[in-house]
Amino acid sequence: MNREEVFNFAAGPSVLPRQALERAAAEMLNYNGSGMSVMEMSHRSSFFKEIFDSTKAKLKAALNVPDSHEILFLQGGASSQFSMVPLNLLEDGTADYAVTGNFSNIAMKEAKKYGDIHIAASSQDDNFSYIPAQDQLDLTAGAKYFYYCSNNTIYGTAWPYVPRTAAPLVCDMSSEILSKPVDVSQYGIIFAGAQKNMAPAGVTVVIIDKSLAGREMPFTPLMMNYKTMIDKDSMYNTPPCWCIYMLGLVLDWLQTQGGVAGMEKIKHEKASIIYDILDNSRLYKPCARPDSRSDMNVTFRTGDADLDARFAKEAQARGLMNLKGHRSVGGIRASLYNAQPMEGVQALAEFMKQFEVQNHV
Ligand SMILES: Cc1ncc(COP(=O)(O)O)c(C=O)c1O
Repeated sequence: MNREEVFNFAAGPSVLPRQALERAAAEMLNYNGSGMSVMEMSHRSSFFKEIFDSTKAKLKAALNVPDSHEILFLQGGASSQFSMVPLNLLEDGTADYAVTGNFSNIAMKEAKKYGDIHIAASSQDDNFSYIPAQDQLDLTAGAKYFYYCSNNTIYGTAWPYVPRTAAPLVCDMSSEILSKPVDVSQYGIIFAGAQKNMAPAGVTVVIIDKSLAGREMPFTPLMMNYKTMIDKDSMYNTPPCWCIYMLGLVLDWLQTQGGVAGMEKIKHEKASIIYDILDNSRLYKPCARPDSRSDMNVTFRTGDADLDARFAKEAQARGLMNLKGHRSVGGIRASLYNAQPMEGVQALAEFMKQFEVQNHV
C-alpha cells in the first residue's frame, strides 16, 4: 500500500507528522551542510549540540516548563522510569500509587522492590474501566510521592483531573503528553516514552523538579540517577541522538498546529466523532466509563471476539491499520494521537457505520 492509502491507528510506535518525516528524509544524508546524517555525527559536535539545545528549548516552550524543572532525554523507555522513580524518591518512606491500568500496575509492583508502597486507589474492581475520583484517593500522610498514569493506553481511560495531594505528583504521561496544556509546576516528575506523541521509540522524556534530585538510594545505578543526568544535561553517556532530532522536528510541526492548546481542541473533536458513534450504536460497546474516557485511545468491542477480529481485518483491507485491541484485553482500539489526521478519524467513522449496518442482527 502507499502511505496515502493508509491511516495508522497504532498505540505506539504510532503515526508521526508527515511534515516531520519529509524533513528528516530531506536531511537524511546531509544535515545542514555537515556532510553527515544526524545518525552519524558525534553527540558532542556543534551540529548536534545545536539540535539538542533547540529541541530542549522547543519542548520547554511547548509545555511552558518552569525554570524549577529540568528536561531530560533518557533511554530505557517509559518502563525504566518504573524503577528510576522509586530508586530516586522512595528512600525511608512510603509512596502512594493509583493503579488504573496495566502500566501503573507494573510500576507499583516494581516500586515494591525498593520500599513501602500503598495502593491509594485502584479501578481493577471494574476491569480498569474508570478513574477513581479525588475523594476516593486514600492518601498517606507524609508520602514521598503520589504516582499515577494520566492516560491508560490499553484500557482507553484518562484522568479527567489532576490529583490534589500534599506529596509530589509523579505522572506517566506517555500516551497523552503534548496533547493538551499542562501546569508543569504542579508536578514533581512527568515522564513519557516518545513513541506516541513525540518521536520514534528510543527517547524517554523526563521533566523533573530539580529539588527532588539527589535523594537516590545508595545503590542506585549511575545511569538511573536523576542527579547524574541533570548535572550532565542528559549527556553522561551517548543520548538517543536521532530520536531527539526527530522530536525537534515534531515540535516544529506542533507549533504550526497551534501548539498544545491547538492539539487539545482537535483531540476532543476527533475523539467525539468516534464516541458519538459508540454511544448511538447497537453493535459497539465502549469500554471506558463516559467520565473517564481517553481522547487518545478509544476502546470498544462488539461483544463477540470473532466479530472484533473481523472488524480489524476488514478495516485493514481498507487501509485502516492497527485497530486490534491490546493482546491482554482484546476488543478494538483506535489510537487518535496528535499526528492522526481528521481524515483518518472520518474514514474510521465511515467504516464503523458500514460495518454496523452489515453486521448488526
Ligand atoms: C502509559 C504507558 N506507560 C508506559 C509504557 C511503556 O513504555 P516503554 O515501552 O517505552 O517502556 C507504555 C507503552 O505503551 C504506555 O502506554
